[in-house]
Amino acid sequence: MNTPRTLGTPLSPTATKVMLLGSGELGKEVIIALQRLGVEVIAVDRYPNAPGHQVAHRAHVINMTDGEALAALIAQEKPDLVVPEIEAIATDKLAQLEAAGEITCIPTARAAQLTMNREGIRRLAAETLGLATSPYRFASSLEELEAGAAAVGFPCVVKPVMSSSGKGQSKVDSAADVRAAWDYAAAGSRVDSGRVIVEGFIDFDYEITLLTVRSLGADGKVVTQFCEPIGHVQVQGDYVESWQPCRMDPVALDRARDIAGKVTGDLGGLGLFGVELFVKDDMVWFSEVSPRPHDTGMVTMATQVQSEFELHAKAILGLPVNVALKAPGASAVIYGQHEAAGIAFEGVADALRVPDTDIRLFGKPESFARRRMGVALATAADVDTARVNAKLAASRVKPVVAS
Ligand SMILES: Nc1ncnc2c1ncn2[C@@H]1O[C@H](COP(=O)(O)OP(=O)(O)O)[C@@H](O)[C@H]1O
Ligand SMILES: [Mg+2]
Repeated sequence: MNTPRTLGTPLSPTATKVMLLGSGELGKEVIIALQRLGVEVIAVDRYPNAPGHQVAHRAHVINMTDGEALAALIAQEKPDLVVPEIEAIATDKLAQLEAAGEITCIPTARAAQLTMNREGIRRLAAETLGLATSPYRFASSLEELEAGAAAVGFPCVVKPVMSSSGKGQSKVDSAADVRAAWDYAAAGSRVDSGRVIVEGFIDFDYEITLLTVRSLGADGKVVTQFCEPIGHVQVQGDYVESWQPCRMDPVALDRARDIAGKVTGDLGGLGLFGVELFVKDDMVWFSEVSPRPHDTGMVTMATQVQSEFELHAKAILGLPVNVALKAPGASAVIYGQHEAAGIAFEGVADALRVPDTDIRLFGKPESFARRRMGVALATAADVDTARVNAKLAASRVKPVVAS
């Protein structure tokens, strides 16, 4: 592991260089955290003026699923660390470069490979590590999906193996609905691999993200630490609000940490992971894991001494981290509401008049009705008040189409 423990001066021969593959709102905050440590940051995305492009030393626009283009850019920039921020990248090329000793990939190229496809991470969690998950089958045709759905039972959830933010995902209540779910998955898949997972529906009480950090201890060994659990609400597979800490049964919390420790321990490397878990009473099911900051973890910008972005930045540089909670709080998403480029936001001042709130606007060049354009953050004496205030602040921000 080539961990840069000595930090250099950006834009000089001593520079510590980090390349972000994906420069959305999560990458933007990781970049800001790295900038504060004088790291030279190279932001890469598939479209110009992505949020992270706007705060990096250099910005590049390439198709990150094109392995040759990715390798050429890495050869040109020679980063000390390559940090995937999204799933849709040529992870096989990253694995090849890592194996050849040409890059250090965060947390590991294997982690990026396994998590870009639901099949990789699900088989690892359930079949190799023996963790509790929903029952599941994979299918590459409508006939296989029909058999798989019958095997896991109804209701069930169908998702493309390569997709995120709920894209192409649907709940199926009966055999009659399977065809519609197959067609919907094909339309929503990131890559038209024609492969889906069908999972038995877990009737959970609530779901959490357990942010788990692997950092280097003073003895040079990896230490695993857990943030307070984050509760969240998803609508059509996309996060709309989150809060921290999420009150949990102590047995369930122990189980959640055990699962998160095992999954992140297997994926290895340094950095922060978002482990998604379903909870009912004291039962816990593993759902999926991001080997990087998690969207529901944006709440930590208000609630933690070090946000998930700062934790990731420090951990990957080999620095110690502090996962302590500062105050209970919540986040609520601000959607674009319009299909237009260069929208404006009214009501930000009114939003910030809600007590103990803050706003982040991501600066995305183009808005879609359901595109996440910003987030409202709130802290309060208790999580319930913070949730009300975060939602109130978010509702006061009014995206408008510039005339
Ligand atoms: N098997 C399931 N049972 C119940 N709810 C589910 C199941 N799978 C997914 N969901 C719901 O859909 C959300 C998104 O699913 P997830 O697998 O995390 O997809 P994505 O990768 O798009 O985030 C979950 O957070 C949960 O709310
Ligand atoms: Mg998810």
